Amino acid sequence: MGLLIKQGEIVTAAERFRGDIYCEGGQITAIASSLDKRSAKDEVIDASGAYVLPGGVEPHVHMELPFMGSESSDDFETGSTAAVAGGTTTIIDLAIPGRGQSLLDGLRIWMEKAEKTVCDYALHMAVTWFGEKTAEEISFCVREAGVPSFKSFMAYKGAIGVDDDELFQIMTCTREAGGLTMIHAEHGDVVANLQKKLISEGKTEPRYHEVSRPSYVEGEATARAIMLARATGQKLYVVHMTCREALEAVTEAKLRGQEVYAETCPQYLLLDDEVYKKPDFEGAAYVMSPPIRPKGHQEVLWGGIEAGVFDTIGTDHCPFNQKGQKEMGRDDFTKIPNGAAGVEHRVQLLYTYGVCTDRIDMNRFVDLVATRPARIFGLYPRKGSLTVGGDADITIYDPSGESKLSAKTHHHRCDRSIFEGFVVKGRVAKVILGGKIAFSDGDLKVERGAGRFVKRPVGP
Ligand code: URP
Ligand code: ZN
Ligand code: ZN
Repeated sequence: MGLLIKQGEIVTAAERFRGDIYCEGGQITAIASSLDKRSAKDEVIDASGAYVLPGGVEPHVHMELPFMGSESSDDFETGSTAAVAGGTTTIIDLAIPGRGQSLLDGLRIWMEKAEKTVCDYALHMAVTWFGEKTAEEISFCVREAGVPSFKSFMAYKGAIGVDDDELFQIMTCTREAGGLTMIHAEHGDVVANLQKKLISEGKTEPRYHEVSRPSYVEGEATARAIMLARATGQKLYVVHMTCREALEAVTEAKLRGQEVYAETCPQYLLLDDEVYKKPDFEGAAYVMSPPIRPKGHQEVLWGGIEAGVFDTIGTDHCPFNQKGQKEMGRDDFTKIPNGAAGVEHRVQLLYTYGVCTDRIDMNRFVDLVATRPARIFGLYPRKGSLTVGGDADITIYDPSGESKLSAKTHHHRCDRSIFEGFVVKGRVAKVILGGKIAFSDGDLKVERGAGRFVKRPVGP
């Protein structure tokens, strides 16, 4: 039995036209201005009035991540279900072995956890230290495991953070293996010292989270990571960029011709640091690293999107409940688990605040949420595109109407939404995973464990 999607506005990163798509055997098998059913048993979706988009590819999530004495509250099943409800059909999580732990042990643990994912998924590997076997293990991940992207943290000193010497070695051997380095850019030593100073002064509330990690701390680390990548001849992907200084460093590198990719997230485009001042410890819901920035940075980031400097929009989805988790830092903001939920709203927020405000067109929108992440991380054209022979992962977006986001209605397993009350335009009407309808007008038909691990070749 096939699936025929009729008369939608088909949008890819490069094209936009009205037409039909036929899916069979999990793949797209035909795209044309008009197609007929091939069998009486074929299912037909009338997509007239709606956009037919490649399923979203989310480059940055953390499901069931053990972190800061807790664990992110979405597991691979609930988090991937929320992703699907929001029009994302492939997620890339990050296996994070601890300092001293083998990369391959970390990979095995994450592969086991991820077995319950409802949509297709891939993994990045975190390199949190450099030991005798690290080079060999990185090479194994690239050649054998289908995991060719490696994230290191310049922040989180004393936990999963690395120093410059380690980073130099990590970048060198990742380049030799043909992999991509990803970087969390914040100056770990400066953050640790500012945190200590603030706490000793009795400044313990969530509002001091941003004060302890100012934007110049991110800007400096971004420039340093770019310099290390230049010195080692390595290509670099900068995750969750939040500020003017980081954008300037990346823009300069790109103009110089250095292979540097840039990601930002909806929360950094749409929120400012006033959120940390909410009463009753509600500011804790927004504690993430890097932090939400003061007013002004958001417009600069939008400029980076319009100018084409940003390559992808991720979410850094890493939810923690207020109750029982964020509360751990009630008397000390440095103990608030860092992270928030977002995977469900990435597509809808960028459509509303990017496309509907005329900042970007539909092609650029598709590129940011699906095609570029798929290309950079070696998933294209199987994912992130509407291509004959590609996977039939499709999002049908109805642009009519509007609604409000809320923790009461989202699918994230989290008691807070950092986008509570945000108005979004249109809705994800249907989501197709491998040619099967997985979400239809609010009804989920996903299956625990139905997602496949996608081995990736070296991208981009
Ligand atoms: O606050 C954050 N970002 N939590 C998740 C871990 C990370 O740094 O990506
Ligand atoms: Zn990070
Ligand atoms: Zn992250």
